[in-house]
Amino acid sequence: MAIPDNIIDKIQEKSDIVEIISAYIPLKKVGRNYKTTCPFHHEKTPSFIVSPDKQIYHCFGCGAGGNVFSFLMKYENLQFPEVIEMLAKKTGVVLPRGAGRKDEENSFTSQLYKINELACQFFQSCLANNKTARDYLTSRGIGDEAAHTFKIGYAPDQWEGLLNFFKTRSATSQVLEKAGLVISNDKGGHYDRFRNRVIFPITDLKNRTLGFGARVLDSSLPKYINSPETAIYSKGRNLYGLDVSCAAIKKEGYALVVEGYLDFIIPYQAGIKNIIATLGTALTVDQITLLKRFANTVIMVYDPDEAGEAASLRNLDLCISEDVNVYIAELPAGLDPDGYIRKFGADDFLKLVKSSKNLFDYKIDKLTKRFSINTSNGKTAIAGEMLPTLSRINNAVLKSTLIKKLSDRLSVDEEALKIELKKVKTGYSERRYVPDTAEARIDKNSAELIVLALLLEGGSLAGKAFAEIAPDEFRNSSVRELVKLIFTLNKDNRQISPARLISQTSGSAEAANLISEAVGILEIVKDKDKTMADCISRIKKDNLRERLNMLQEAIRAAHNQKDEDRMKALVSEYNDLVKINKT
Ligand code: CTP
Ligand code: MN
Repeated sequence: MAIPDNIIDKIQEKSDIVEIISAYIPLKKVGRNYKTTCPFHHEKTPSFIVSPDKQIYHCFGCGAGGNVFSFLMKYENLQFPEVIEMLAKKTGVVLPRGAGRKDEENSFTSQLYKINELACQFFQSCLANNKTARDYLTSRGIGDEAAHTFKIGYAPDQWEGLLNFFKTRSATSQVLEKAGLVISNDKGGHYDRFRNRVIFPITDLKNRTLGFGARVLDSSLPKYINSPETAIYSKGRNLYGLDVSCAAIKKEGYALVVEGYLDFIIPYQAGIKNIIATLGTALTVDQITLLKRFANTVIMVYDPDEAGEAASLRNLDLCISEDVNVYIAELPAGLDPDGYIRKFGADDFLKLVKSSKNLFDYKIDKLTKRFSINTSNGKTAIAGEMLPTLSRINNAVLKSTLIKKLSDRLSVDEEALKIELKKVKTGYSERRYVPDTAEARIDKNSAELIVLALLLEGGSLAGKAFAEIAPDEFRNSSVRELVKLIFTLNKDNRQISPARLISQTSGSAEAANLISEAVGILEIVKDKDKTMADCISRIKKDNLRERLNMLQEAIRAAHNQKDEDRMKALVSEYNDLVKINKT
């Protein structure tokens, strides 16, 4: 039995977020809120805010946030029911018999794990029955053993293959949709998300399947389709393959970091087992934290175009802040780890890995190719790129050694570098919103977040927002799901607040981060009426533009197919839309 909402509300009411967080970390009162340095990432200037009025917290640096439950889940590494149980004891709220942790087996998330496991089996059996898919794997050099270890499967070329499989397995289409396996159409029906693709399940450390990546068998686009964010899968919080590679990573003391599924599987199969894949995204703090449980050193295996890019080098500064040693192994142009091993073999690949350079040397070498080390402009530019990296180093001895090294390379006075270093601002200011200019910087994403926060405000402003926009008008699927939930709660006349909405999502970290971020942005907005009008009109304009583009495409297609009737209908819809929006 799930824990009833009214019990959760009661526990929340009796647990003051300021009191609970300050039992772990000291909080300083600033105006109505409390401030401190974030316990979830390294920072020097505080960007972690706790709001006693709203009973939520948010870090403007790393984006972590949520209510009192989310904080304890993250800080104490607990599951939602465990936190409820803990706070129930503390606040003296009696849980109904059978509710709480033992209940976890029936909880929504465990239902999703079960569904994913079944889907995995389904995809695997489809692979066994499909020669074309098996031939594709063979052509990519993936053997049976690796296919088995990584639970590789195949999604059949059908709109309802997986849907039909689940018909007899007590999972509704609605739940399958929440698992990200099917998509709803306009008519209220559903269809399979993954069709005619090789399936790579993404697993966690317990080997539970969180989501899937799916590759086409030819060169059509998009090459990969991935599971969306769900209650159990969040991109950037997991590392592909870590469950099978963590022991080797611990033993070797370092992890090879690659980008893609094949770049992981092919080396692994060739005996290089201390490896993980980020699945095409830049390393996140969450992923680094996860890795640090097994090793303190990473070797990034990059293809050279990307490795040279300032953005991906800057991203590696995150590792430095987290006290992780970073090395970079550069592949020859045009080859990824999969391609390299298939061409030159695993031994050569290992040689290349062994010759990797540490981030500091690598970065300086790259920069000296870009800027002249002999001119003062060149020296200034190089120092300007290197100092932010150096400023992230927590260890004073290492920092001082590297400053000396930089001063030698550039023939620049060490003291001068130290003075400049002091001026460097660390923190994550390049990420996310710059708080005090929120009004000026309303972009597509923040417009949706601000309206989300407005819906949670209550009062006449929220009432107006309810009247003017519908859940389906939100493009970001995570925000849209939350807005849907708010509309349902509103219709049921349930009390809505940010902290309550977070509880309603049963501890989804992504939802908690989003909601607290939204509320944080709204807090610094000065003219709420104007901002609301701006945001809503921005969302509607973006949608209109997108719809008109789609219609144009469809008209072109109908024209090519000489489908006169369809063309007429589309053109008339196009003209109507333009007309309505002119008036
Ligand atoms: N990726 C993705 N969606 C895409 C393209 C890439 O999610 N449209 C992710 C996948 O996890 C992929 C990784 O980014 O494995 C690296 O992308 P890429 O280098 O383009 O693909 P490869 O993994 O090399 O795939 P392949 O060798 O099969 O072309
Ligand atoms: Mn590849």
